Amino acid sequence: GAPVEADISKLQPGEMMTVEWRGKPVWILRRTKEQLASLAAVKAEVADPDSVRSEQPEYCKNTHRSLKEEYLVTIGICTHLGCSPSSKFQPGAESGMGPEWKGGFLCPCHGSTFDLAGRVFKNKPAPDNLPIPPHKYLADTKLLIG
Ligand code: FES
Repeated sequence: GAPVEADISKLQPGEMMTVEWRGKPVWILRRTKEQLASLAAVKAEVADPDSVRSEQPEYCKNTHRSLKEEYLVTIGICTHLGCSPSSKFQPGAESGMGPEWKGGFLCPCHGSTFDLAGRVFKNKPAPDNLPIPPHKYLADTKLLIG
């Protein structure tokens, strides 16, 4: 499939948008400072904190799994059986997510949860972190995915 452009100029901190690439949803989340801080806070609770097993470009092998710290770009398809997790990423926004919940994504199919870098929490059916697609910035507010 052809690469797709995403205009992220309207994305406010804490907001997320979805673009389609190769028939898959690609999420772009502009993380707030609090959301970025949560990544370190949940490090001990995620299954693959350094994304050793994850599908992601070399340039995203860092603590925030992204080119720019603020923006997460990830494929919104659960690594268990391929459902699309819902985008409930405000801490405490939903009940029943368990005491480990610091914000992130919940897969409604079998309950896998992912943090705000797409890292899967421990003891969940999904084996791996959400994949990061190849991408680059064409300008400050323009992304090319693929
Ligand atoms: Fe997401 Fe099973 S498909 S937990």
